[in-house]
Amino acid sequence: MCGIVGYVGEKQAAPILLDGLSKLEYRGYDSAGIAVFDGEKINMTKAKGRLKVLEEITHGGSTMPGVLGVGHTRWATHGEPSDVNAHPHLNRDGSIAVVHNGIIENYLKLKKKLVKKGYEFVSDTDTEVIAHLLDYYYDGNPLRAITKVMHRMEGSYALGIIFKDFPDELYAVRKDSPLIVGHTETGSIIASDVPAVLKYTRDVYFIENEEIVRMEKDSMEFFNVDEEQIEKEPVHIEWDVDAAEKGGYEHFMLKEMYEQPKAITDTFSPRIRGNEIVIEELNMSDEDIRAVKKLMIVACGSAYHAGVTGKYVFEGMARIPVEVDLASEFRYRDPILEEGTLVIVISQSGETADSLAALRESRERGAKVLGIVNVVGSSIAREADNVMYTWAGPEIAVATTKAYSCQLIALYLLAVKFAKVRGQISDAQVKEYIEDLKRLPDQVELLLNNKNKIQKFANRYLAAKDVFFIGRGIDYAISLEGSLKLKEISYIHSEAYAAGELKHGTISLIEEGTLVTAVLTQEDLFKKMISNIVEVRTRGAFVLAVTTEGNDEVKKAADYVIYIPRTNRFFTNSLAIIPLQLFGYYISVGRGCDVDKPRNLAKSVTVE
Ligand code: F6R
Repeated sequence: MCGIVGYVGEKQAAPILLDGLSKLEYRGYDSAGIAVFDGEKINMTKAKGRLKVLEEITHGGSTMPGVLGVGHTRWATHGEPSDVNAHPHLNRDGSIAVVHNGIIENYLKLKKKLVKKGYEFVSDTDTEVIAHLLDYYYDGNPLRAITKVMHRMEGSYALGIIFKDFPDELYAVRKDSPLIVGHTETGSIIASDVPAVLKYTRDVYFIENEEIVRMEKDSMEFFNVDEEQIEKEPVHIEWDVDAAEKGGYEHFMLKEMYEQPKAITDTFSPRIRGNEIVIEELNMSDEDIRAVKKLMIVACGSAYHAGVTGKYVFEGMARIPVEVDLASEFRYRDPILEEGTLVIVISQSGETADSLAALRESRERGAKVLGIVNVVGSSIAREADNVMYTWAGPEIAVATTKAYSCQLIALYLLAVKFAKVRGQISDAQVKEYIEDLKRLPDQVELLLNNKNKIQKFANRYLAAKDVFFIGRGIDYAISLEGSLKLKEISYIHSEAYAAGELKHGTISLIEEGTLVTAVLTQEDLFKKMISNIVEVRTRGAFVLAVTTEGNDEVKKAADYVIYIPRTNRFFTNSLAIIPLQLFGYYISVGRGCDVDKPRNLAKSVTVE
């Protein structure tokens, strides 16, 4: 996600800001900027692209005098990556500068109100709203203005703020987006992540939700949202830089798995208004939605697997026929795209060559394309007719986890929306689905916290030669993804089969000790799946079952059972995937593989 650095002290701020930002580069970003108060005014330099560009423009920061400043590396959410959308953002007379991580969910509403009051916006960002809102509430008391703004904002934020009127003070505040502050030998520093400050201090304060910090060169005061002063204790950081980049996790993949509850929330919450699902970016009227005759989902790898889940969800819930295809096949198979077909291209990077080609092919044939994309401003996002972003943040590990989970959420939101508009479900059902969505982050967290059980199990199978994943219906879709997670990072041969297909050939591959992972989350298919488990066990397989709480029957059939919490029958993949991700991860770790950068694989496949 974006990076924040801020400094107030006796040294020139700009070089410190640039240095801090460089330590946050690993998080991924598309533009960067800094704002420094030079004693008279706040000067700002911003540039799209690498931090190097900003360093060159400012000669390593030396051309920007001043000892108070904030800096930012941006991962675009609202608005394309560009100089103007890069942070910091200023209020109208340039006397307040803000950097922001997170998403302001009600920014459109706030923007409308501010525009009515005469504020002019220069960027497409949600952050600019904060700068103008601070301006609106500022009456000479920065703390008061900040708390008032906090009361108005919905969503997540970590902010670094400077006021021209207070040249010795740096402000920081957070809600649901990390932020740390610390004292250095020469001043005070804020950052969104530990690596940015390690060179200057190892004693930091972790800012908690809705806490505000006012810093001067050698003092620091903490406040709550009622402007009452609070006490905080510093924490000593023992990590080295490498561990700090991973937030203390051993690998990016593990860190990103742990980011799933937040990524899921970030993806659904801006699209839920009370008991309704509102997907503005879809740009489709109810009439347009009703006119859709068929969905064609096209993607590669894990994104394709999300699409397979989407097929079951859309067909089951909204009763729309869905075809899912691998982009590399679709583009060369002379696809039939009749009128009324909506093409959905799913991609984390937004740059996958085959997916992009499939998008172009579809548009040339006159079909409308909806992109479900994680990287804002990427090629697929730009070229699709409409784009629905997944708010997973940057994914560093090659094996996708949180972006895949967010793709599922985007598909659920669309399916519920389509089902409601097409009269397939009632308002009460929409409400239930929304409640189930809201429960998912905690349920995912619960499963992640159960990781030791899976690690123990994985350690028994480090020498496995072949692993099979079986499931029926939507559980087949998750088997595909579970199998890919295992093989791509552990180099163990693995395949997923629709359990009913076993008898048609695959079962001959089962021998004494073969590991079979059976996923059974669909109550109406439990019995069928248990028969399949018995079939493979009789032939010597060792069966790991992933099933829903309360399914006690399976204990008698399988060798080892992992339970996932209950949800509705369409959302189970979001839970079943967690133990499968952890399983792949721990096998890879146990085998000493390069978890985050598996051999022969690239994060973004921009060639055919
Ligand atoms: C597997 C994985 C890949 C990607 C695939 C598509 O863990 O990450 O299979 O899902 O290369 O990439 P995007 O989503 O960027 O189009």
